[in-house]
Amino acid sequence: MAKGPQVDFLVVGAGVAGLRTAVELARFGDVLVVTKESLGESNTHYAQGGIAVAMDGDQDIALHLDDTVKAGDGLVDRRAAEALVSEGPLRVAELIEWGANFDREAGSEGEAGIGHFLRTREGAHSLARILHARGDATGAEISRALLTFARVHKRIRFSEWTRVSGLVVADGRVIGADLAGAEPPRSKSGPAGQAPHRSHVRVAARSVLIASGGAGQVFSDTTNPSVATGDGIALAATVGAELADMEFYQFHPTAFALEGAPRFLISEALRGEGAWLRNDRGERFMERYHPLLELAPRDVVARAIAHESMADPTDAQSPPRPVYLDMRQVRNIDVPARFPGISAFLANYGLDLRHDLIPVRPAAHYLMGGIRTDLVGRTAVKGLYAAGEAACTGLHGANRLASNSLLEGLVFGARAARSMLSDSLPLVPVEPPGPAPPTLAARETRRVQELITGLQASMWAHAGLLREETLMRQGLADQQACQSALAEIAAQRRSSRRLSEAQSLCFIARAILVAALARTESRGAHFRNDFPRRDDANFLKHSALGGEGQVRFEAW
Ligand code: SIN
Repeated sequence: MAKGPQVDFLVVGAGVAGLRTAVELARFGDVLVVTKESLGESNTHYAQGGIAVAMDGDQDIALHLDDTVKAGDGLVDRRAAEALVSEGPLRVAELIEWGANFDREAGSEGEAGIGHFLRTREGAHSLARILHARGDATGAEISRALLTFARVHKRIRFSEWTRVSGLVVADGRVIGADLAGAEPPRSKSGPAGQAPHRSHVRVAARSVLIASGGAGQVFSDTTNPSVATGDGIALAATVGAELADMEFYQFHPTAFALEGAPRFLISEALRGEGAWLRNDRGERFMERYHPLLELAPRDVVARAIAHESMADPTDAQSPPRPVYLDMRQVRNIDVPARFPGISAFLANYGLDLRHDLIPVRPAAHYLMGGIRTDLVGRTAVKGLYAAGEAACTGLHGANRLASNSLLEGLVFGARAARSMLSDSLPLVPVEPPGPAPPTLAARETRRVQELITGLQASMWAHAGLLREETLMRQGLADQQACQSALAEIAAQRRSSRRLSEAQSLCFIARAILVAALARTESRGAHFRNDFPRRDDANFLKHSALGGEGQVRFEAW
């Protein structure tokens, strides 16, 4: 067989989990990191609030564990949470050594020791333990530091504008992947994902890591960037990996809510610094919902906002009522300096955190479920590993504790690398791929986009914050129609990134809907109007979704 391109390790995704894994792997082998847009275009890059970490010893670690477990509403895998909180301090110290600059107390720049880092609080944290960088640009700083560090490794190569169009399996093991490279668009405003193929190669790898992040784009209202289409999760499922906890999608309470504006994230850290929530009558309504007020767990705050914004039940025509974030009373910090990115964004709409009420509403933010892995990134398929938001270790249970996900990427990325190394799978030569399919015509491309938009709106309406059987059945019917229409387009044997993203989103939508229908209780981020209570007798279990599409519930 002709020897095609090969690499020791293939990493899919260049967010915090992918980069941290790559750095670890590069000590022992050659690593190729592929990302479907430019480096840095990831959920990691847009993370604002910070990275939660217990840097003050054992008692601090125990408290972080306790908060993580409580937030997860009974379903956190304790061993995963213990790994996160106990290994987290080392991973963060290492990151600082590699050049990450977290915000420090004035005058302490250059001094050693964690004591001088500024720490903030977010929902469901019992104390201020969240490090941040450049105010509200924590993800961008972590991404910058990791990329800078990774680029000097001779054994790490990056391939931007490259997507994985398929995984190659032999004898039940993943032995490589098909990569489709595209020309970067000429302008950022150009349509995403329509660029013609530049290359189409099959790469052999000892093992493949999926670290391609979440799937917020399955909902019309999301804080996630356009790249978050769940591709890696869908790919893993096509080769037999099991998915878990897909019903648990976290809705961030405070996305910007001006008509026509993007659902930009208004960080929970604003509430950590003292911002209040008010309804359209000016009431600080969280007093009626939870003793922790604005710092209640995220699912509680999101549902409280949804209730407050419900239209007048006596008037079917009444529009939803606005809900606002109010920072005007916060006087102990320099608000624009603490939140420069959010302040700059709001200035585009003539709003100033110091003087104005900011309209907010919930939006899809983080997938707690994903590709089921053990605690070292192994999936059900030999040769295939997963880490970060694409993976589900059970760490987040039914509701992720705010700012735990950047830490998750570091801790579980390093762990996945260690199992990829210790499993030491041999390279297996792969057959060259067939010819690249021609690119989808413009008319079909427009149709694909229409289908995506319809699916997103349906998922928001039928599987969003407040779910019930009749709504979700309608969602399933819409999903089925979308899937059939996409299958017709795919039958033309033409391809495009957007078509493949649409197929991924359609797959993710189905996984969310069937798992959410099967969980006839309310827990964490999954709330059902028709089953409003938590049912530990039947559902103190994770959902698992195999290739046959059936949902099982299992205690791990
Ligand atoms: C935020 O800044 O509010 C988001 C933090 C997170 O999702 O962990």
